[in-house]
Amino acid sequence: MELRERFLNDAAFDGLYSLRAQQLSSVHWTPIETAKKAAAHLTGGAGNQIMDIGSGVGKFCLVAAHFFPAHIFNGVEQRKSLVDEALIAQNATNLTNANFIHANFNELDMNAYDHFYFYNSFSENISHYKPIDNLIQSSAELYEEYLSQFYELLEERTAGTRLVTFHCPDNYVPATYKKVKYSQSEALSFWTKQ
Ligand SMILES: C[S@@+](CC[C@H](N)C(=O)[O-])C[C@H]1O[C@@H](n2cnc3c(N)ncnc32)[C@H](O)[C@@H]1O
Repeated sequence: MELRERFLNDAAFDGLYSLRAQQLSSVHWTPIETAKKAAAHLTGGAGNQIMDIGSGVGKFCLVAAHFFPAHIFNGVEQRKSLVDEALIAQNATNLTNANFIHANFNELDMNAYDHFYFYNSFSENISHYKPIDNLIQSSAELYEEYLSQFYELLEERTAGTRLVTFHCPDNYVPATYKKVKYSQSEALSFWTKQ
């Protein structure tokens, strides 16, 4: 398959991944059309460092990196096996404007990033529908802890910071962020810090 064809639809792109990751795609990884819309908002402000908090197999970052080559798409992911999948897909797509970090998001200095993408990554602590694996500890306490750390990091950002949330309740986001656009059918919200 030609490289360009990988980015035409989800099935073609997901073919870059293991069978297990392909089976998880419809529940856990951002669809191509959604990633393009999210990245269009995130690349509209000052600064070119975008961070995907909980980047999984890197689908959001790699799709965004393909369509927005002037920006750098960084992902942080707690599961090493998923970072490995992201790196294999990155290698296959020859994209140099994506970086994947194996860590818990709360270990990173988020001051290095300008804008953020978030696909309700912590919900696996309270919802066990089609789990990615059972290798990571999960609990309602962790869910609350991560959410408050996420809220705090957003609060600390400067005015102009952009955020896109996918399948997330609005109360995850501080009131200092204005929802500038919303697609109900896609559960996609676009925010800018005032
Ligand atoms: C719903 S998936 C989204 C994947 C990717 N952002 C995308 O849109 O294709 C959420 C990911 O967040 C990761 N995750 C959850 N909690 C995390 C944490 N505290 N630190 C880093 N990654 C985390 C999970 O392992 C999972 O791969």
